Amino acid sequence: MNGLRTCVFPCAGFGTRFFPATKVIPKEMLPLVDKPILQYGIEEARGSGMDKLIIVTSQGKDSIIDHFDRSSSLERSLREREKFDLLSEVEAVSSMVDLIAVRQKDALGLGHAVLTARDAVGNDPFAVVLPDDVILSDEPCLAQMRRVFEETGRPVVALMEVAPEETSRYGIVAGEMKGNRRFKVSDMVEKPKTDPPSSYAIIGRYILPPEIFPLLEKTQRGAGGEIQLTDALRQLVQSGDFYGYVFEGRRYDAGEKLGYLKATVDYALRHPALGKEFAAYLQGLFGNGKAIDREAAADSGRAARSEKPRQRV
Ligand code: UTP
Repeated sequence: MNGLRTCVFPCAGFGTRFFPATKVIPKEMLPLVDKPILQYGIEEARGSGMDKLIIVTSQGKDSIIDHFDRSSSLERSLREREKFDLLSEVEAVSSMVDLIAVRQKDALGLGHAVLTARDAVGNDPFAVVLPDDVILSDEPCLAQMRRVFEETGRPVVALMEVAPEETSRYGIVAGEMKGNRRFKVSDMVEKPKTDPPSSYAIIGRYILPPEIFPLLEKTQRGAGGEIQLTDALRQLVQSGDFYGYVFEGRRYDAGEKLGYLKATVDYALRHPALGKEFAAYLQGLFGNGKAIDREAAADSGRAARSEKPRQRV
C-alpha cells in the first residue's frame, strides 16, 4: 500500500437510535455546538492529509452535500448586508473541500456502504470514517493511525479500551499488544457475550487496502441481515499483518442520544467563544448540588438503560 489521500464517509444509515430527530434530518447533520457532526470528521480527514473525500449518501440526505457546497444567494445577501464575519464563516465551509457523492440505494449495511464507494476509491488504499464516532484529540485520530500505516503498509483500525461489562456492545479484537499503542490483530469477535478475547474495541476509523472490495463483494448478509464490514475485515486479517492502534483522545458515540449530549457538553466547554460562559452556567446549575433534580436524573438513567444498544457491526 502507498499514498493515502482518500477517505470514505458512510452516511447512508437510518439513524434509528436518534429517532425521532433523525426521521428527516440526517444524523450527520445534527449540530455539535455550531457545526454538523460530519464536519468534525471532514476536518479530521483534512487534518490527516486526505483530500479525496467520498460521501456515501442515500435518498433524503442531499443536505449533507449542500452544506459543503457554495450558496451564491446566501453569500450575496451577506455581502450586501456587510455581514462579513458570517460571510467568511460560510465561505470557509464551502471552500473547505470538494466532495464526491455516491448513493447507496438500499441500506444493506456498513460493509455494503463501503463497497458502494469502490469505483470512486479506485485502486488505492483509503480511510473510512464513521461520522457519528466523534473523536476529541490533540492530534487527529486518523493522523495517528496514518503513521502506523506508513511504517507498515498494512491495514489499521482504531482501538479503544473498554470496561469488561461493555465488551458485549462492540467488535473486540484478538491478538497481542506490541507496545507503543500498537496491537497485532489475529481475529475479531463481534459483540462477544462471554470471554471477550481482549478489552480493545474497534471504533469507527479504518485504513484499508483496495483488496477489501473483492472480500466485501463475497460477503453474505450477516447480523441484522446486513453486509457487515467486520466479516470482510476478518477475511483480510487472514491475508497478512493487520494492526490496531489505541488512539490518544476521547471518542463519543454521537449517533445515540446520551453520547451526543456528552459530546455537546465537552465540545461546548472547549469552544473558544462559548466555553467560559457555558462553564459558568453549568457551575451555577450543579455547583451546589441543589439544582439537580434527582428524581428526573434517576428517571433519565432508567430510560437510557432501556434504549436499544449499539447496533454497529
Ligand atoms: P450505524 O449503525 O451507526 O448507523 O452505522 P445507522 O444504521 O444509521 O444508525 P442506527 O443504528 O439505526 O441508529 C455506522 C455508519 O454506517 C453508515 C451510517 O450512516 C453510519 O455513519 N451506514 C450504515 C451506511 O452508510 N449504510 C448502511 O446501510 C448502514
